[in-house]
Amino acid sequence: MSATVPVRLEVNGRAHQVDVEPRLLLVHLLRDRLGLTGTHVGCDTSNCGACTVHLDGDAVKSCTVLAAQADGCSVTTIEGMADGATLHPLQEAFWKDHGLQCGYCTPGMIMAAADLLARNPDPTEEEVRHGLEGNLCRCTGYHNIVRAVLDAAEGVRTGRIETPAPTAAGREAGEELAEEGLGA
Ligand code: FES
Ligand code: FES
Repeated sequence: MSATVPVRLEVNGRAHQVDVEPRLLLVHLLRDRLGLTGTHVGCDTSNCGACTVHLDGDAVKSCTVLAAQADGCSVTTIEGMADGATLHPLQEAFWKDHGLQCGYCTPGMIMAAADLLARNPDPTEEEVRHGLEGNLCRCTGYHNIVRAVLDAAEGVRTGRIETPAPTAAGREAGEELAEEGLGA
């Protein structure tokens, strides 16, 4: 029996305390222990970005972080982005601009794009393409993804759309989806 270490962390505003094997990756803690299957695993080489979440506000590939390293941290996953039925502007723009096909890369793309827009609310197309270089998409050719990010940025800047603060209702809706397997 391998030793476990206690990890306390907040995920989408909710506190968790779990005992984990020291080798457990954050992505597996989120998916397998907390049921937040919107965070995907798309490779075993740290290349695809499908597992991107926010760790204390910064986008990270959660397959490159040990769960134990997240002790004391705040994590946001794709399930924490919407406000109940109100989608995050990036989710809305990906939908409106057809920024996805199979959708496998989409949660990671949105989390990476949210980090990009938090740092640079008015990016150029080139800056968006550069900012998303760590996220791979096998389907779309990236054009509509970039357009969606630019569209969301413009919408938030001009007040056309508001960025919702994650709420308890949003968290619960996300968790229900996860329980139903719809976040996978
Ligand atoms: S699953 Fe993390 S980068 Fe591919
Ligand atoms: S939409 Fe299929 S991998 Fe990006």
